[in-house]
Amino acid sequence: MKLAIFGATGRMGLAIARLAHAAPEVQIVGGVCADGDPGAGRDIGELAGLGSLGVVTTPDLASGLLGADVVIDFSNARAVPQLLNVAARQKVAVVSGTTNLDEAAKKALDRAAQSVPVLWAPNMSMGVQVLAELVEQAVRRLGLGFDVEIAEIHHRKKVDSPSGTAKRLAEAARAARGELREIHGRSGDVGARTNEEMAVYGLRGGDVIGDHTVYLFGQGERIELTHRASSRDLFAHGALVAARYLSGKPAKRYTIADVLG
Ligand SMILES: NC(=O)c1ccc[n+]([C@@H]2O[C@H](COP(=O)([O-])OP(=O)(O)OC[C@H]3O[C@@H](n4cnc5c(N)ncnc54)[C@H](OP(=O)(O)O)[C@@H]3O)[C@@H](O)[C@H]2O)c1
Repeated sequence: MKLAIFGATGRMGLAIARLAHAAPEVQIVGGVCADGDPGAGRDIGELAGLGSLGVVTTPDLASGLLGADVVIDFSNARAVPQLLNVAARQKVAVVSGTTNLDEAAKKALDRAAQSVPVLWAPNMSMGVQVLAELVEQAVRRLGLGFDVEIAEIHHRKKVDSPSGTAKRLAEAARAARGELREIHGRSGDVGARTNEEMAVYGLRGGDVIGDHTVYLFGQGERIELTHRASSRDLFAHGALVAARYLSGKPAKRYTIADVLG
């Protein structure tokens, strides 16, 4: 599988480079970075601490994707529509883990999926997929007598909030109880909580890779469903599994649940 990495110099981009390099069936053929990135023009292997791989990072999207079967994207929401346009034109399958996509970027995913296989997931781990399934089941079984709240913790450099995974978990809860309404924070004289509200909180600090807890508060008891990521390789590995899955598949939208069976 010939792989290009979009957001190649970022935390996730470099984690992908390290895991891809260790996989004999994967060849890194391109790395795309942002315009003005100090890593532009440098060998992606050297940036990832692997020694030279003969692949130089470039802000030029078309040349960065040249010859790739699949591009893996962990970048910035604003950059995603352009990536999708170029990938669709150059017939490169797309695995995207970038979070906080706006409506235009979500439409761009659908448009690209008319030409190439496209998989977007706010969390590439098997554990979070199973957590979402557990949340939906628990919220359905417990019903109105339980209050649902979600807390996520990430490192101090994360730029969006709440996390894409927290939004995914909120969606899982809403799949069971459609009336649940997401709120973000409580401050001042807000009154007692209603049955419908579901607060989603983001805590930021240090180097936390990603913790998510869904609280189900009942009378005299509570359930806490927690997932903790202890390595970025978790997401990088999931993205590579997804990339292999997409190779040779027909053009359409795929989900991480498709990959995990
Ligand atoms: N789905 C998952 O499982 C999962 C897991 C972890 C993270 N994420 C998400 O993945 C994204 C990246 O996370 P991260 O921790 O790797 O962030 P990061 O370290 O900031 O990396 C993002 C990289 O993308 C680059 N970039 C920005 N605009 C670009 C463009 N137009 N072309 C090419 N590269 C561009 C950034 O460059 P500059 O710094 O120069 O802007 C940066 O190097 C975030 O949205 C995060 O929430 C998802």
